[in-house]
Amino acid sequence: MVVAWARPEEIPGPAAESELLALLSEDERARLDRFRSPADGRLFLLAHALLRTTLSVCSGVEPRAWQFRVGKYGRPEIAAPSSRFRFSLSHTRGLAACAIVLDRDIGLDVEYTARSAPEHVLDFFSFREVEELRSTPEGARANRFFTYWTLKEAYLKAKGVGMSLPLRRFSMYEDAAGVWRIACHAPLEDDPQQWWFWSSPVGDDHVAALALRLEG
Ligand SMILES: CC(C)(COP(=O)(O)OP(=O)(O)OC[C@H]1O[C@@H](n2cnc3c(N)ncnc32)[C@H](O)[C@@H]1OP(=O)(O)O)[C@@H](O)C(=O)NCCC(=O)NCCS
Repeated sequence: MVVAWARPEEIPGPAAESELLALLSEDERARLDRFRSPADGRLFLLAHALLRTTLSVCSGVEPRAWQFRVGKYGRPEIAAPSSRFRFSLSHTRGLAACAIVLDRDIGLDVEYTARSAPEHVLDFFSFREVEELRSTPEGARANRFFTYWTLKEAYLKAKGVGMSLPLRRFSMYEDAAGVWRIACHAPLEDDPQQWWFWSSPVGDDHVAALALRLEG
């Protein structure tokens, strides 16, 4: 598995931005043109250029040669050249990231944490997660909130079924050894043993989470 990160401030100037732009497909450029906020546009550009270059570092295929399609529930995948790579892409204020793996479901999520936790996201947490948050000391609560959020999003993205997955029907929890695990609540069915999770801060202002299905 390969995980790559990039920050928008690392783009040294307009010339470098043009080089990144030249890597994108027409579809990606058309999507880029629709961004109203220049900062969001730069992030999108960075994320998609990062994905292309990382796939290329892993394979030797030219970054511009990758073609993508969108699956039934919106998950992007490689259309050409024929490849065993699966990937997940995420971007948030100040950070773009991608994860690439062979033949397995993978989900990556990054969030900007130097802000107050958006209350509405709690609606997507299970009762167990909400209870855990309530019993977390106040100083650690925001950190815990973003950790749950990114782990849940990472699982959602690994499943690739978009918002049709009932987010309150599963709970993320740390076992006695500090390993992140999933518990599924009926009617959601999944085998928790099939999943590996990882969560970590990225610098001071971001948190990242990965979900990987251990069997192809
Ligand atoms: C679109 C979604 C997959 C991720 O959105 P997000 O977290 O806002 O944004 P991220 O930057 O992390 O991910 C966006 C990328 O996910 C990928 N993606 C889109 N649909 C996807 C799907 N069904 N499955 C997997 N990946 C998907 C795309 O690469 C997309 O990048 P692009 O738009 O530049 O092409 C979806 O999970 C969503 O709408 N999430 C918000 C739901 C929510 O409120 N959750 C509460 C917290 S638990």
